[in-house]
Amino acid sequence: MLKIKDLHVEAGGKEILRGINLEIMDGQTSVLFGPNGSGKSTLLAAIMGLGHCKVTKGNIVYNGVDITNMPIDERARMGIGMMMQRPPNIVGVKLKDLVRVISKDDSVTDRANEFRMDNFLERDINVGFSGGEIKRSELLQLTAQKPKFVLLDEPESGVDLESIDLVGKKVRELLYEDSHCDLGKTVSALVITHTGQILDHIGADRAYILNDGHIKCSGRPTDLLKDIRERGYKECIQCRMVKM
Ligand SMILES: Nc1ncnc2c1ncn2[C@@H]1O[C@H](COP(=O)(O)OP(=O)(O)O)[C@@H](O)[C@H]1O
Ligand SMILES: [Mg+2]
Repeated sequence: MLKIKDLHVEAGGKEILRGINLEIMDGQTSVLFGPNGSGKSTLLAAIMGLGHCKVTKGNIVYNGVDITNMPIDERARMGIGMMMQRPPNIVGVKLKDLVRVISKDDSVTDRANEFRMDNFLERDINVGFSGGEIKRSELLQLTAQKPKFVLLDEPESGVDLESIDLVGKKVRELLYEDSHCDLGKTVSALVITHTGQILDHIGADRAYILNDGHIKCSGRPTDLLKDIRERGYKECIQCRMVKM
């Protein structure tokens, strides 16, 4: 479904990604680990086509179409959706108006209730929202869009214990939209997680560690998470590179 080949990306005049190769099959969920500043958010931004990223080499192919230089709205129409790590405040645009435009039906209030966001519909997007409220708002918008390829940038970060189960449940529904079991899953995903908490709620097929703009290794998500927790990134990457 997604094939990334030798991708080099610049942001702010600096080369951040330096030759990423990654393939995600139909219905697969992949997880991306990596230390702060390694380029995880930049990779998601490049796939979605956010304006601050400049692809200098390589390409991104989605469902057989080269989207490397495609405008962001066309990528969204093709079914790619993203939950940002730190989305911007959008002063002057109410949450309800954005959700209504995105929704393919008009169940804005019902949908907002499900995310405990009904009291936020009249507010400007993200303005004065807490960390957890921003995540619920992002998920509400993403769910309305019904994407086929989902990019999640640290969906659980800043979410308090009370909301974490709700976020986990909603992410699960997003990924398993068309079925109630893991078999027959049609939505694919690339998920960044620091804590691994989201893995308690979704099944993941493959995990990768990004460091210094390169993918250093891959493995089963639970194995990699265990190694990272026990050894830290530096030692984990060195050890796994020897094994590979
Ligand atoms: N728009 C930008 N301008 C300048 N530097 C940027 C920009 N976006 C990201 N960077 C830099 O690129 C590096 C990788 O950032 P990021 O992809 O956010 O890392 P991660 O998500 O892995 O923590 C960081 O050093 C960050 O400061
Ligand atoms: Mg990030």
